Amino acid sequence: PSYRIASIPGDGIGPEVVSATIQVVEKLAKTLGTFNIDFTHIPWGTQYYKEHGKYVSDDCLETLRKFDAGLFGATISLCGASSWPSAAPLQLYANVRPVRTFPGTKCPLNTATEGIDWMLVRENSEGEYSGQGGRSHIDQEWEAATEVAMFTRVGIKRIMRFAFETAQSRPKKHLIVVTKSNSMRNGMVLWDKVAAEVSKDFPDVKWEKMLVDAMTVRMVAKPQSIDTIVGTNLHMDILSDLAAGLAGSIGVAPSSNLDPTRKNPSIFEPVHGSAFDITGKGVANPVATFWSAAEMLIWIGEKDAAAKLMHCVETVCAAGVLTPDLGGTANTQGVVDAVCDEIEKF
Ligand code: NAI
Ligand code: MG
Repeated sequence: PSYRIASIPGDGIGPEVVSATIQVVEKLAKTLGTFNIDFTHIPWGTQYYKEHGKYVSDDCLETLRKFDAGLFGATISLCGASSWPSAAPLQLYANVRPVRTFPGTKCPLNTATEGIDWMLVRENSEGEYSGQGGRSHIDQEWEAATEVAMFTRVGIKRIMRFAFETAQSRPKKHLIVVTKSNSMRNGMVLWDKVAAEVSKDFPDVKWEKMLVDAMTVRMVAKPQSIDTIVGTNLHMDILSDLAAGLAGSIGVAPSSNLDPTRKNPSIFEPVHGSAFDITGKGVANPVATFWSAAEMLIWIGEKDAAAKLMHCVETVCAAGVLTPDLGGTANTQGVVDAVCDEIEKF
């Protein structure tokens, strides 16, 4: 099979980690010889803004729809909200973040023997980041602002179904539904209600409800009691950063923006941002984007290639070829070369 991938490098270290990943994935495709993959560059970000007065071309969504998937680097935050800036119009309603202790990373928790292995599912299209609300400019001192969290039964049901399916596909078959239904008596109560309804279709999945504040403590104190977590846009935005920190480094954390109906191409991206403090130094850790590309390969149907890619990346990290964020001395290209050497062995 042949796949067409939109590459959207973006800003800062985005182009560095995306170009590193394209080298590795092209090497993998060439070495295995079982599939073809073709990357097409789509400009998005400040460079495009300087030239055209906007961050991306007006027809970019139509352009994206023609691809099998997208690999995104990072941009400066355009809307200050969701990870992938166009998650809502493309209905990429499931943001999925696998979190596990990676070879070479130091986990700040005392979980070295077993490590962390979680799957975080974030509602990616509504909720607290729906952009509803406003500010009254009547009087400066008494100015008021509202931020309306918008939840729909359809929106909750589809993410809940996806989360139960995800939990079901993992060995522990365990799901934690995170809400704040003790204090937020409308949307969060609807979440709990829909969770209970959807759970009836998944009798083999053990599930429980957790309030988001208590969940932060559980993640730190009892990491082994957790497998799959589902929550709202805001709650999981925060919990997933906590999870990336607990697992060791943001430099290895991947994410997927999925349209589980597969009507639109899904977009895969590292969790980190454009990291302007290290841009141009050639030391950005490409592992988060490698792992995101592996998730992309799984999604488009190349499970075996994805497993092989992750095997090579983990071998290289375990051998100590690490960028400075993980305490190593390798640069981005050094990690790329080491992974390509590993791939060569297939
Ligand atoms: P950041 O993730 O860009 O950087 C946080 C810290 O982690 C920095 O010290 C950076 O050097 C380090 N870091 C991040 N990725 C790394 C990598 N691959 N290798 C080594 N070190 C790495 O977050 P920050 O500084 O809060 O945001 C910078 C910009 O990125 C902002 O404009 C923000 O809005 C944007 N951003 C964009 C995202 C996206 O496009 N999906 C996600 C998060 C932030
Ligand atoms: Mg975030």
